[in-house]
Amino acid sequence: MRFKDKTVIVTGGGSGIGRATAIAFAREGARVVVADIVEESAKETVALIHAKAGLAHFIFVDVSDAKSVNALVASTLATFGHLDVYFSNAAVIDAGIHCTETTDALWARVMGVNLSGCFYGARAALPHLAKTKGNMVFTASVASLGAMAGGASYTASKYGVAGLVNQLACEAAVDGVRVNGIAPGGVLTNIFSEMKNFDEVETMVKAVTPLGRFAQPEEIAEPVLFLASDAASFITGTVLRVDGGWRSK
Ligand SMILES: NC(=O)c1ccc[n+]([C@@H]2O[C@H](COP(=O)([O-])OP(=O)(O)OC[C@H]3O[C@@H](n4cnc5c(N)ncnc54)[C@H](O)[C@@H]3O)[C@@H](O)[C@H]2O)c1
Repeated sequence: MRFKDKTVIVTGGGSGIGRATAIAFAREGARVVVADIVEESAKETVALIHAKAGLAHFIFVDVSDAKSVNALVASTLATFGHLDVYFSNAAVIDAGIHCTETTDALWARVMGVNLSGCFYGARAALPHLAKTKGNMVFTASVASLGAMAGGASYTASKYGVAGLVNQLACEAAVDGVRVNGIAPGGVLTNIFSEMKNFDEVETMVKAVTPLGRFAQPEEIAEPVLFLASDAASFITGTVLRVDGGWRSK
């Protein structure tokens, strides 16, 4: 029960890595705010947690909208009184679209959700995390560490997330707040499984991953919990690769 009585916000908690992490935090005793733009799937995550006698609560958020993120944090504080961990995880993909094919709308959407969403979360959450000596974890990506895991907008957004981790780790340390990131490789979530060319993508992921397979979302959740836990008390500013060796090549 590493997170007993802790309040944890998980953005993108309705699916994939966010869902697995929300469930893992709840299993460890946290009160989990499952925050997502899709109410139905987020409420499914809440139901899965309740079914195991865990504590969870849905709050709508569109992370690309600063007011919505501010409201998420305010509502969490009104409900639970304090905030201990903010897992900034929601993102969208760009289907690997190259720069010259990237429309203004795609660029704005991907940067808005993936990068501005992380910034809005940090700006809203950090003052409250300072009160609890809490921490933030951001979902970066192998696309934060090199090209060709996404397209132009996704890669730029995820490099930005890794930059935020470094900057915020230095800014927040004075308040005793740690800031880290996680860089997954290929993880079997809706991002991949709903792709029309899934077979082709699966072959590519297996080829670039020394461990030769997709990760399950739970294999990302556990390292997130580690970074958010007291076991990582001297770790800040780290983007931890959980990529089956992808970026070792
Ligand atoms: N799946 C992978 O292989 C992989 C690899 C590296 C990084 N990632 C990252 O992991 C994170 C989670 O992705 P996933 O694979 O679980 O995908 P997913 O599509 O299963 O989950 C993403 C969740 O984010 C939510 N979301 C999307 N836009 C939102 C918004 N504007 N506001 C609030 N919620 C929003 C979706 O509704 C969904 O529940 C993302 O940051 C993604 O970039 C995934």
